[in-house]
Amino acid sequence: MTQDELKKAVARAAVDYIKPKLESDSIVGVGTGSTANCFIDYLAEIKGHFDGAVASSEASAERLKSHGIPVYDLNSVDRMEVYVDGADETNADLELIKGGGAALTREKIVAAVADEFICIADGSKWVETLGGFPLPVEVIPMARSHVGRELVKLGADPVYRQGCVTDNGNIIIDVHNMKITNPKATETAINQIVGVVTNGLFAERSADVLLIGREDGVETITK
Ligand code: 5RP
Repeated sequence: MTQDELKKAVARAAVDYIKPKLESDSIVGVGTGSTANCFIDYLAEIKGHFDGAVASSEASAERLKSHGIPVYDLNSVDRMEVYVDGADETNADLELIKGGGAALTREKIVAAVADEFICIADGSKWVETLGGFPLPVEVIPMARSHVGRELVKLGADPVYRQGCVTDNGNIIIDVHNMKITNPKATETAINQIVGVVTNGLFAERSADVLLIGREDGVETITK
C-alpha cells in the first residue's frame, strides 16, 4: 500500500471507531494535515450522526465547512467526546511530535479539551525515540532570536521555518538533532523559555488511542 492509501485506511478506521460514541449533540475535534484531511472527508459521510466540529486550524475549518459540517468556536463548546488528528512521530507510549503543518498550538488546545484523543498515522510515523522529525516550536515573532539562543543552550539545533506564519500570527522554529529520551521533561523545558507559545511534543497530553496503518491492516493501540 502507498502512504496515501495507509492514511485513508486509518482515517476510515477512525470514523468507524468514533461512530458508536457519537450522539446527535456531539462535537468532534478535528486535527490538521493530510491524514486529518482524509478523516474529514470520511467524517462527512456520517455528518447526520453528530452536531458539528471544532477545528484545529483555519484550513481544517474550511474543509469541514466545504462538506457542510458546522464548525464551532471552542469557547462555545462545553464537552468534546473525541479529538482525531495525525502526527509526525509517535512512540510506544503514544507520545507524539506534531506541528509539521504549523498547527501545533491549536491542536494542543483542542486535544486538552477532548475526553479522548485518537491519533491516526501511517506506519512511517512509528519511532523508538522521538526527535528524528525536527520538533516544531511556535514562537512570538519578537522572541525569535532569544528563543533560538535558549534552544542552543539545551543542546538543540534550531532552524527558523522561512515564510511560515501560524494561524495565531506567530513563527515556527524547528529543532533538529535532538534525541528526546524524556519527552515530558523536554516538553516542559522548552515551554519554560520566554517567548515560546508551545512546542509540538504531546507527552503531557499524549494520545489515548493510536490507529496505525501497516501493510497488513490498521492496528489499534491503547494506553
Ligand atoms: C499539523 C500536524 C499534523 O498532524 C502532522 O504534521 C502530520 O501531518 P500529515 O498527516 O500530513 O502527515 O501536526 O500541525
